[in-house]
Amino acid sequence: MLQQKHAEHSRSESEQYKYNHICYPFVKWAGGKTQLLRTLNKHIPSTFNQYFEPFLGGGAMFYYLSSKNLRFISYLSDTNEDLINAYKIVKNKVEELILLLERHEKEFNKSHEEYYYELRAKPPRTAIERAARFIALNKTCYNGLYRVNGKGEFNVPIGRYRKPVICDSTNLRRVSIALRQSKANITLKNYKDVLSKYPVEGDFVYLDPPYSPASETAYFTKYTHVGFTGKDQEDLADIFRILTDRNCRVLLSNSDTPFIRQLYKDFAKYSEEVIAMRAINSDSSKRLGHKELLIRNYP
Ligand SMILES: C[S@@+](CC[C@H](N)C(=O)[O-])C[C@H]1O[C@@H](n2cnc3c(N)ncnc32)[C@H](O)[C@@H]1O
Repeated sequence: MLQQKHAEHSRSESEQYKYNHICYPFVKWAGGKTQLLRTLNKHIPSTFNQYFEPFLGGGAMFYYLSSKNLRFISYLSDTNEDLINAYKIVKNKVEELILLLERHEKEFNKSHEEYYYELRAKPPRTAIERAARFIALNKTCYNGLYRVNGKGEFNVPIGRYRKPVICDSTNLRRVSIALRQSKANITLKNYKDVLSKYPVEGDFVYLDPPYSPASETAYFTKYTHVGFTGKDQEDLADIFRILTDRNCRVLLSNSDTPFIRQLYKDFAKYSEEVIAMRAINSDSSKRLGHKELLIRNYP
């Protein structure tokens, strides 16, 4: 009993989350929100109809909502093609995916580097192969980073893992159920295309865009070959106001910079500063706490 208590205590926040919740992100993702969920939880509306997560990434918030016994239809989107393909496959073809991932795990553990670079160089032939390759590379690459070259080819080097779990079949099956239960509408779309059309009164929208950088080189903001610019942040703030006029509940997380504060100054009374850790930084000594802003359009 005592031992078990000690084990629970020594688990990191994200491990505790995994332990306590039904499912969790099936990829490691820069800017992932797992460690902020306890804070975000306070701001989840008690009822809503449809749920929108247009900067999906690892989808920590979606899984969290799924574990809360809420019933909702979800609209999940992102501009990263590999990621969106993987979500569709997890939703619709999870058993075939698991078979391929088991094979990747076995082969990777035989020859690590050789297998990693072979897999990285080989273009997949089908959507299922593409999803399996994406997940396997995510679990074995340096820091779980996603980076592509000018031609859109994944070019992250191998990470330092002795025996990585590439196929977490229990979690994948649970994710698949959560996606099907919420009739997830999974699309490869720019946030503007989704938000300008679909959310209506009574819906909940969680916005977690790439961070507005505190300096030119400070943070990682490139998840695809196109970055997220200051103009994108401004357009997003315009959409935030449009959704407010439509009576949607919108919760946004971003870095705490003067630029972001200025963009959302009309919502200052519903803003909160939080300290978060950056999950992905090539230099582990720089994985320090930083200030983030949570901005809502509702009390
Ligand atoms: C901070 S991450 C989201 C992390 C996520 N909340 C999680 O828990 O892992 C931002 C995401 O926005 C996506 N993205 C970047 N530009 C976008 C755009 N213009 N429209 C939609 N998604 C975009 C990136 O591919 C990335 O997955």
